[in-house]
Amino acid sequence: MTSPKPRVVLGVSAGIAAYKACELLRRLTESGHDVTVVPTADALRFVGEPTWAALSGKPVSPQVWDGVAEVPHVRLGQQADLVFVAPATADLLARAAHGLADDLLTNTLLTARCPVVFAPAMHTEMWQHPATQANVATLRERGAVVVEPASGRLTGKDTGPGRLPDPAELFEVARHVLARGAAGRDLAGRHVVVSAGGTREAIDPVRFIGNRSSGLQGYALARTAAARGARVTLVSANVALPDPAGAETVAVGSAEEMRKAVVEAAGSADAVVMAAAVADFRPAGYRGSKIKKTEGAEPEPIRLVKNPDILAELGRIRRQGQVVVGFAAETDDVLANGQAKLARKGCDLLVVNQVGENLTFGRPDNAAVVLGADGSRTEVPRGAKEALAEVVWDLVAARLERTPSDVRQGEGR
Ligand code: CTP
Repeated sequence: MTSPKPRVVLGVSAGIAAYKACELLRRLTESGHDVTVVPTADALRFVGEPTWAALSGKPVSPQVWDGVAEVPHVRLGQQADLVFVAPATADLLARAAHGLADDLLTNTLLTARCPVVFAPAMHTEMWQHPATQANVATLRERGAVVVEPASGRLTGKDTGPGRLPDPAELFEVARHVLARGAAGRDLAGRHVVVSAGGTREAIDPVRFIGNRSSGLQGYALARTAAARGARVTLVSANVALPDPAGAETVAVGSAEEMRKAVVEAAGSADAVVMAAAVADFRPAGYRGSKIKKTEGAEPEPIRLVKNPDILAELGRIRRQGQVVVGFAAETDDVLANGQAKLARKGCDLLVVNQVGENLTFGRPDNAAVVLGADGSRTEVPRGAKEALAEVVWDLVAARLERTPSDVRQGEGR
């Protein structure tokens, strides 16, 4: 009898982060997925067979010689709706990129025709080594989703990119990839840049001018783009959310810092989405020490100067074929202001939403109209910020398709 539950193969290779895959497995089984765990032989040194078997409710073996009558080395991959490898070590990525088939997991990867996700975890040097990066590029070119590792404390004393992202984040990636199916990797091989959060402009060492952006919309954009196969750079300003799995997160504070990071990343990007709330003004001068009250005197006014308009700059310097998307937060005359802003900033798409008390900031949902420079107008009813993110990527993907790849690849900035 066939199972109505989505079938997931959870591949586990030999990294210490294997223990985090237990939590991912739990989330998958508890949310109604039929999960078969396929560890490599060495992965079992980190987390043993009884743990995987008990959590998945199925027998577990790293090799092709168990249960041969059922031809597991072919059947598992063929029947899977998703193969998710977490953690993926440098060795596993290399074997997958080169098509080796020396254990059950690599056999499964070769026979799978469903979406495949790799969540790498290793030391920074191994991750950044040209051999690993070339293997990752090969896997992405073939349509696999390779999520960017998170940055932070690694095994031992070192820190840097190489951590396995939070299991909750990995679960979100699995859910999205499954929901979209094999056809959903329309951003595979693309590099996208997303800005998120709100910039802070320092007045003195303890005070700043900021805004109420939570970063939720930008993070939803980053997460959904990664699930659709894109390499994602997320430039994040003052956001108190966990790094989304699949994105390389660059933390910035002020508008100037955001401008530098976004423009640099945009140099190699197919699309840039400015979801961040960038402060239009900053204090003219930064006071090196805290401004004190003076008894009996009014405070000195704070003079403001204009910040650079990053979106307008992106509109001017874009590579040929690059899609530039802005967001417009409006309180009044939402559509008229949106149209004018689209033209002024020279972007391809402008996501216009109405903001105000309790309307958008910090809420998990959003409603918007997406205006296109080509005159298109797409209404997005109130719903999850991820649903709006998916519509934005649909519109971006449609525009990228119109650009011949030889123009894109041959183009510098
Ligand atoms: N933006 C930017 N740099 C700025 C200000 C805004 O890149 N200095 C971007 C935002 O990320 C957003 C878009 O421009 O994608 C629109 O932001 P919004 O605040 O609505 O527009 P403003 O340019 O600030 O225009 P106004 O204040 O007149 O509404």
